[in-house]
Amino acid sequence: MSWWQETVCYELYPRAFADSDGDGTGDLAGATARLDHIAELGADAVWITPFYPSPLADGGYDIADHTGVAPDLGTTEDFDRLIARAHDLGLKLIVDLVPNHTSDRHPWFQDALAAAPGSAARGRYLFRPGRGASGELPPNDWQSAFGGPAWTRVADGEWYCHLHAPEQPDLNWRDGHVRSAFTDVLRYWLDRGVDGFRVDVAHALFKAEGLPDAGPGQHQDPLRNHLMPYYDQEELHPLYREWRAVLDTHPAPPGSVPPQDRLMVAESAVFDPARLARYIRPGEMNQAFNFAFLEAAWDPQELRRVIDTSLSAPGGGSVTWLLSSHDAVRPVTRLGSAGRARAAALLMLALPGSAYLYQGEELGLPQAFVPDDRIRDPLWERSGHTDRGRDGSRVPLPWSGDHPPYGFTAAAPERTWLPQPDGWGPYTVLAQAQDPDSTLALYRAALRLRRAHPAPDPTAAPRWYSAPGDPHLAFGRGALVCVVNLGTRPLTWSTTGVPGRPVLASGPLDGDTLPPDTALWLLDTPDPQGPEGEHDGRIH
Ligand code: NOJ
Repeated sequence: MSWWQETVCYELYPRAFADSDGDGTGDLAGATARLDHIAELGADAVWITPFYPSPLADGGYDIADHTGVAPDLGTTEDFDRLIARAHDLGLKLIVDLVPNHTSDRHPWFQDALAAAPGSAARGRYLFRPGRGASGELPPNDWQSAFGGPAWTRVADGEWYCHLHAPEQPDLNWRDGHVRSAFTDVLRYWLDRGVDGFRVDVAHALFKAEGLPDAGPGQHQDPLRNHLMPYYDQEELHPLYREWRAVLDTHPAPPGSVPPQDRLMVAESAVFDPARLARYIRPGEMNQAFNFAFLEAAWDPQELRRVIDTSLSAPGGGSVTWLLSSHDAVRPVTRLGSAGRARAAALLMLALPGSAYLYQGEELGLPQAFVPDDRIRDPLWERSGHTDRGRDGSRVPLPWSGDHPPYGFTAAAPERTWLPQPDGWGPYTVLAQAQDPDSTLALYRAALRLRRAHPAPDPTAAPRWYSAPGDPHLAFGRGALVCVVNLGTRPLTWSTTGVPGRPVLASGPLDGDTLPPDTALWLLDTPDPQGPEGEHDGRIH
């Protein structure tokens, strides 16, 4: 079994994690100084989102240099210190690879703009003549995932394709130069000691030959994503096999995992489970983010269906579970209450496979309101100010104190990367570390128990103690047993047939009844006094 099959991986969004130099923006040295928070939490790995040079048209996912470090975040030496510290703390570190597009400030795109139509420089991107009598219409009907057409016209009349913001031109993955340059990017970060990669927009690198129209309803039904001519093309898979071979063979520097243990996880917005499973066949990626779980409603039937479907899809790797990310609404807000988010955490962390946590989730942060004049997300402009975008889950973490900037930076609160709300004093790491009933304490206890009781087979379905129509979910994975009451009435958990003794609950219990929106963990081990530390968790 490989470490990533059961890993708890913590997503670190560097500009909002911790600031070391007082400029109001989180940075690599700040992250290094605070990595012990992630180790104490009990995570196994860290995924750090893009820290590369970027004009920040899309929070750093518009990269101008794939092997550099953004000056506001530090230097290459700061990255080396971050990875060394992570490894010292026993944490693996994975970085983002963003191969679908570059920044429009990337030298390749600047060269392409300066070059003539049909040139090799333009051939690295998707430049096309327009339709209409004078080429005034976009080459096809593709829509950007951020709204509006996926095409922008340049001065000489050609159009270029961008599935995201216009500042993120899509690369042409049939261009040999692009292909070999990205292999070099992989090798570069492997040489610096990374333990793997999260591959951004892994479903979109190739577009169907001839760039045919996509038709109506684009981006409206995720279950149809794999049918779009710009997604899920067959040519992705030989490319991922090529990358896997690089990961499997490129020498590992001291401190990083051996080559065959390196992780490649796909950010693939393909919702059809059979299509998604193709990304994690042996010899390709190890894992793909399970967005169906992230988007599932707080409903026992829907969650049961997503869990069963996720675990039954064929594929070589292990299933992932996530409740949040820098792209999603915070679970407290999305699910409707702090209690539900806490129960969802125990549900997720009891499932077999890997869990991805996003910074601030362990603090139970709600989605923050970001005023119009501080919004950074391109969705705001692209949607004509109808979609406020994702900034509400990207505000800087509160570490200590009663008012902004809550120990995040030495800068004045109005200079932070995004503004933090008032009233977050009770959410700070410091306040929660001292409170045994806090969400931080719950996550710490859950991760300790989970680590002490790994799933015997992280790819196997759980043992179900509840039936598909029940208002609760009850299941076991190895010795760890979980009951979640998703109904509207209290549940006498002792009648659900679950074995074991209670060790951790997401909220106060009432005798042997579990209130609605509450989860309970039990341990089904023969020796209650055994070394597994059954008092790690707190029973209310
Ligand atoms: C997915 C990233 O998570 C998101 O933040 C970004 O906007 C898009 N990919 C485009 O790179």
